[in-house]
Amino acid sequence: MIEFRQLTVDDVEEFSALIKNMYEHLENLEWFSPMPFDHDNVKGMIEHPRFYIVGAFEDGVLCGVTSLDYKCGKLIGKVDFPDYCNTDSLVEIGFNMVHSDYRGRGIMKQMVSHILEKVKLDGFGWAFAKVHKDNFASSKSLIKNGFEIFADYHKPVKVSEFVDLSSQPFFSPVGKENAKQSLARVKDGDENLIVEYDLLIKTM
Ligand SMILES: CC(C)(COP(=O)(O)OP(=O)(O)OC[C@H]1O[C@@H](n2cnc3c(N)ncnc32)[C@H](O)[C@@H]1OP(=O)(O)O)[C@@H](O)C(=O)NCCC(=O)NCCS
Repeated sequence: MIEFRQLTVDDVEEFSALIKNMYEHLENLEWFSPMPFDHDNVKGMIEHPRFYIVGAFEDGVLCGVTSLDYKCGKLIGKVDFPDYCNTDSLVEIGFNMVHSDYRGRGIMKQMVSHILEKVKLDGFGWAFAKVHKDNFASSKSLIKNGFEIFADYHKPVKVSEFVDLSSQPFFSPVGKENAKQSLARVKDGDENLIVEYDLLIKTM
């Protein structure tokens, strides 16, 4: 059985290892923007009031993570949310990841369902998420929880961070191949790679 609880600083090591596992098995780095996994930065994220980070545990082992970003990825004012949505009452669901050994069991769907209870408890009117257009496992898990796609989002990702992470020895071979193709789209002098995301929203 999967159990959920908010992560604490005692989970730093396991959360760092989970992020690294996610990158080791990521077929396309466009799907998950570069995120630090060293202990100091991970501790900083867990403690930061901007985030509420929840772990999914099976037999005490951390097998997945989801989170709320109370700053909505700093997207408010940058993208058009639907007219019916009051952005003062909006929160983002992000950092969704499931350990490679635990995939294909609908754990992300359960994690999203769990964190939506927290969204309700906090009194938010809407939750949104951004998902790469080819990331079917992620978008399906959100749609099964009542999210709907409402817009495209051309997300800028720093080329330097994309190059750094995709050239790490642990990064998956297929991920490295796909990263080369992504980087081939970048024009000389551009600092950012533009990746194609969908924005999904749910009314609470
Ligand atoms: C995205 C992620 C969290 C999903 O984890 P998961 O709980 O194992 O998801 P599942 O494999 O159970 O897939 C969820 C659904 O998508 C479907 N799916 C998976 N891959 C698919 C594909 N290539 N095409 C179509 N559907 C697919 C599954 O069949 C399942 O549907 P079902 O519930 O109808 O059976 C996990 O793949 C992951 O950690 N990926 C790397 C990080 C990432 O991309 N995070 C999301 C960032 S937005």
